[in-house]
Amino acid sequence: MTWKNPADRWGPVSQLLHWVIVLLLLMLSTIGLLLDSLPVSPKYFWVFDLHKSTGLTLLALVVLRIGWRLYAGAPRPLPGTPTWQTRVASITHWLLYALILAMPLSGWLYDSASGLRPLRWYGLFEVPKLSAPDEGLRELGHTAHEWLFWVLVALVIVHVAAAFYHHVFQRDATLQRMLPRGRRAPLPEVNDATSRDVR
Ligand code: HEM
Ligand code: HEM
Repeated sequence: MTWKNPADRWGPVSQLLHWVIVLLLLMLSTIGLLLDSLPVSPKYFWVFDLHKSTGLTLLALVVLRIGWRLYAGAPRPLPGTPTWQTRVASITHWLLYALILAMPLSGWLYDSASGLRPLRWYGLFEVPKLSAPDEGLRELGHTAHEWLFWVLVALVIVHVAAAFYHHVFQRDATLQRMLPRGRRAPLPEVNDATSRDVR
């Protein structure tokens, strides 16, 4: 077994990072959207801090993921994939990377420029501020945090729709090669052939 990405599927490290990041994004988005409607209480600050600490954890994972992607490469496109589709997929994927990097950075900038109390990562250590208190930067961070989120949502919808389109209509291995081997349904015949082709 190789930790890197073989020619025909995503390796375990890429898969783990992909799905852990998906789970954390779901959690962060849910908490983020609830933040405005929480009644102010000691729990309120606890939930805020949980959102911020987990957002920074996600930032570290995204940096690791992009580093791993550059080091370990990607599997080859499935044989027969039109060039335009490979290009669109590649652009979408790099846009997703950019967005999941920009989301926590904008939140961190917003927090820093607000001049709020120090941010402690899960209460363990103080996180440095990205800027001194600054109304313009605070506004920029806030606006970016909100807008980038909705752009991310739109792109994720397209991404997930594409994954299911490949799985259900094209009946190819696009989704299966992002899933652990054990959970993989038997590949349709045509794809057994394609998997062998790319080895
Ligand atoms: C990928 C990581 C993150 C995601 C997906 C995310 C998502 C969200 C969402 C959906 C909201 C609600 C936005 C709205 O009002 O429409 C929000 C609010 C907020 N987020 Fe994040 N966030 C992330 C990381 C961070 C980080 C790292 C920080 C700070 C260090 C942060 C600080 C905040 C703050 C302070 C708010 C409240 C904004 C307000 O007052 O309206 N977020 N976040
Ligand atoms: C929630 C947020 C999600 C984000 C930010 C995200 C991000 C990404 C990125 C950046 C890649 C490209 C990997 C690379 O080329 O380096 C990727 C690949 C992939 N994602 Fe997601 N993803 C998300 C959710 C999902 C979901 C829910 C599914 C399935 C239902 C899915 C299925 C896939 C598949 C099958 C691939 C491999 C595509 C290929 O081999 O060409 N993703 N994802």
